[in-house]
Amino acid sequence: GLMREWKGIDVLELELKHRLGIKKVIIVPGDSDEQQMVKRELGKACAMRMKKLFTGKDIIAVTGGSTMAAVAEWLSPVSDENELLFVPARGGFGEDVQNQANTICANMAKNTQTKNRVFYVPDQVSKEIYHSLIKVPDIHENLQLIRSANMVLHGIGDAIKMAERRRTTPDILAKLKEGRAVGEAFGYYFNEEGEIVHKVSTIGLQLEDLAHIPNVIAVAGGSTKAKAIKAYMKQAPSQTILITDEGAARLL
Ligand code: BG6
Repeated sequence: GLMREWKGIDVLELELKHRLGIKKVIIVPGDSDEQQMVKRELGKACAMRMKKLFTGKDIIAVTGGSTMAAVAEWLSPVSDENELLFVPARGGFGEDVQNQANTICANMAKNTQTKNRVFYVPDQVSKEIYHSLIKVPDIHENLQLIRSANMVLHGIGDAIKMAERRRTTPDILAKLKEGRAVGEAFGYYFNEEGEIVHKVSTIGLQLEDLAHIPNVIAVAGGSTKAKAIKAYMKQAPSQTILITDEGAARLL
């Protein structure tokens, strides 16, 4: 019955949290690869967790992706004392508009009736351009905000799928295949050992910045993402909360 299934999930959550060496694992029933509804449930679970973690004055850095877009759908107005500011974690990644961090942050702010920042910077800029860009007041301010964020929300993707979605050049794609990249998060590509195979150099949050951020919520589900999640979790900071589904969790 339903009770037994839920108990199964409870046990799985604890087991996974220990195995992955992170703070908490939350598992929603089902497999988001098979049912669109399950991805919505991932979003709901994340929104609920966020509400518990808000301190009253929060800066939340957010990545792109369809899972993050699902989180935004479930956020609702916070009380007047709460000051939230949503800021894209990194510069543009060539996602479709609805899955871009800028759009997601705007929706999160709209649904909570709080504020957001926009962050428009191109990927893969030269050193000279990078050094001029970080002096642009808006960009400089965003970088300061990202560094002082107390919450990060991010997705995790299958490496090759993400590389294709980003229209990655053939030489980088070859590098990823040669390095056996399986997972991707924040523009970093990881192999099964959790080693970085490649990194998209863009402005914004870097993997090492995560160590200083108290609340890190990773949201990713679907059995096809199990390998990707496992790979990234080898790098994930210990305060990470993973919100996933049964489809991925059973394989993990
Ligand atoms: C992208 C992020 O926007 O979304 C990636 O830049 C992430 O880091 C990906 O892996 C996840 O996408 P989705 O649609 O599977 O949630």
